[in-house]
Amino acid sequence: MFLCNSNLIYMVDTYSIPVTRIERSKLHDIPLENIPFGKYFTDHMLEADFEDGKWKNIEIKPYQPLVLNPSLAALHYGQAIFEGIKAYKDASGNAFIFRPQDNFKRFNISAERMQMPVVPEYLFMEGMRQLIELDKNWIPAKEDHSLYIRPFMFSSDEVIGVKPSEHYKFLIILSPTGPYYAAPMRIYVEEIYTRASPGGIGFAKAAGNYGASMLATAEAKKKGYDQVLWTDAFEHKYVQEIGTMNVFFIIGDRAITPDLKSETILSGVTRDSAMVILREMGFKVEERPLSIDDIIDAYRAGILYEVFGTGTAATITLIKELKYKDFVMNFPVEQWKTAPELKKRLTAIREGRLPDNYGWMYKV
Ligand SMILES: Cc1ncc(COP(=O)(O)O)c(C=O)c1O
Repeated sequence: MFLCNSNLIYMVDTYSIPVTRIERSKLHDIPLENIPFGKYFTDHMLEADFEDGKWKNIEIKPYQPLVLNPSLAALHYGQAIFEGIKAYKDASGNAFIFRPQDNFKRFNISAERMQMPVVPEYLFMEGMRQLIELDKNWIPAKEDHSLYIRPFMFSSDEVIGVKPSEHYKFLIILSPTGPYYAAPMRIYVEEIYTRASPGGIGFAKAAGNYGASMLATAEAKKKGYDQVLWTDAFEHKYVQEIGTMNVFFIIGDRAITPDLKSETILSGVTRDSAMVILREMGFKVEERPLSIDDIIDAYRAGILYEVFGTGTAATITLIKELKYKDFVMNFPVEQWKTAPELKKRLTAIREGRLPDNYGWMYKV
């Protein structure tokens, strides 16, 4: 396939990004076991600049600080988006990335919403593949371990003024991680603050969404809760997401997750994978509006069996308590079968221990 970049035409298969290698790998100093999430970064990073309507200066180089002007547009007006993806090694040591094409598409959906330039496939996908190829010794070959991939883009005009930038930077950095065990969570149903509203940017993975969510989370933490369950902006009645995870409710023989029609929810790659596997497990999967009243009714009727969050960082997180106003729902998570089985299957596909029936694993 041929793709255009600046004045050059590249063949994707042979397009090779210039590389400056580090002199000595940091890997000698960092043991790849029980590594905390997001703390260590690999030897190299990818960096590219958008100028004059084209992507330029594409290179892979030693991981290093950026030198930025204090007037940098992203710091003032928040044109900044990112993605979160994971790479794994199978038992034979082959490296695979989990569903990166889906993140590539979502990245450009975020870019469009934030008036930022599209990142072409050769830059996002080939850039990621070549960077991981170079740093593949950093992918921990252990159960529950992976390499977290963080592509991101921000506006880089050096002028004050609210308007879309003419300059942008795109980078990819890599961070070994695992095991990421998220203990069952206590969740506060949020009724004052809102994460997203129709017409807003809830469906985009824009940095501002995360900054705007921190106050609600901090207040929930003060009350003894781990995270909030966001509700809709108009009535605070329809459930949306839990913190930075999509949410599923097992009610009777159905697995229900809020639908994406109002564009207030991030379309999670783990959410989509969970729906596929839950169908394989025999559930009827429904994407639809789900109100907190329906959830309480199901709880009272004894048919709300499980509640869990889905996301790249922890895969599946069990919810042991939901508090709505003065009403507390407690769940015997240690007896649950569905969420643990879902997590087991998803992890086994990603680590190459179950067949990849849906073409989810992208070979590096
Ligand atoms: C707000 C929000 N919702 C949902 C998710 C889950 O998405 P994914 O499964 O693609 O990681 C994330 C994490 O990326 C998120 O930040």
